Amino acid sequence: MIDEIRAARDEALAAVRQADSLESVIALDPQLLGKKGRLAQLKTQLGKLDTIDEKKVAGQAVNEALQAVAAAFAARRAELGDAALAAQVRAERLDLTEYVGKPTRGHAHLVTQAWERLEDVFIGMGFQVAEGPEVETDWHNFEALNMPIGHPARGEWDTLFVDHAAPGDEPGRTVLRTHTSPVQIRTMLEQEPPIYIVAPGRVFRRDTPDATHMPVFHQIEGLVIDRDITMADLAGTIEAFTKAFFGSEFSSRLRPSFFPFTEPSAEFDIQRPDGSWLELGGCGMVHPNVLEAGGLDPEQWSGFAFGFGIDRMAVMRHQIADIRDMFVDDIRFIEQF
Ligand code: PHE
Repeated sequence: MIDEIRAARDEALAAVRQADSLESVIALDPQLLGKKGRLAQLKTQLGKLDTIDEKKVAGQAVNEALQAVAAAFAARRAELGDAALAAQVRAERLDLTEYVGKPTRGHAHLVTQAWERLEDVFIGMGFQVAEGPEVETDWHNFEALNMPIGHPARGEWDTLFVDHAAPGDEPGRTVLRTHTSPVQIRTMLEQEPPIYIVAPGRVFRRDTPDATHMPVFHQIEGLVIDRDITMADLAGTIEAFTKAFFGSEFSSRLRPSFFPFTEPSAEFDIQRPDGSWLELGGCGMVHPNVLEAGGLDPEQWSGFAFGFGIDRMAVMRHQIADIRDMFVDDIRFIEQF
């Protein structure tokens, strides 16, 4: 009996060793360790042995043999399992560099590019960059700019109101700034003249988007306050800017206009090399009421201001037919620049 047990054990161990795949080792399980296996069969025959001692020795031998086979089986199964996993990983391995291709680099948005170029040109002309909040008080956006409550000119800015009341504002009066002009007021209140600033920023109007309008767009404001500033300084600054930004083949002109916060007021246009004119923005001499709202004495100080759209510059520079294209984030559009 003992010899038979040993033979069955060695045969089982050999079978385990010879299994060369995970499936084949798993298939051995019932045959080696199951009820119908040779060792299990021998176990059932223990009762036929004559003496208690013989039964004890043989029983122990069968158990030890089963344990040895089970351990060998588990070890081989783990080994083949690891190998199978490694083979699978190797087979399914992806060389991701093939798919990424050449590294792609993004770039600043067209509006950001125009914004930064504008800043560069004005900094080159001796201006500093100022900024103000996008959520603005009625006072800064309108009243201090010579548009008291009820002033008809307020209607020209299709204003978006916010529920939140800014400090010092009655509820329902706080606005999303409709232009960058409130930065004029904030700058005058914050710093002593002489003031030479530009204030680029985002502005908001209740407009339905179309090819030339967006409810959110960008402007750049300019403000100069010094002694003896005249309309000639304004015209000269606009002309110098036009040549620096667009090129020496471009020139500019001022046309009479009206804004409550400048007196006199003008629109400024630029002339393209082909002779055609394009309206760019508004400007004028800072109104005495605005200087006073900014804490300045109109007898001592004078200045000019201008404001124009940045988005329009980007559109012009890249000959974009529809301004909305700049904001839909279609990769096919963006990739062109
Ligand atoms: N704030 C004006 C607008 O949004 C433009 C402007 C700025 C006009 C400064 C005159 C002076 O239309």
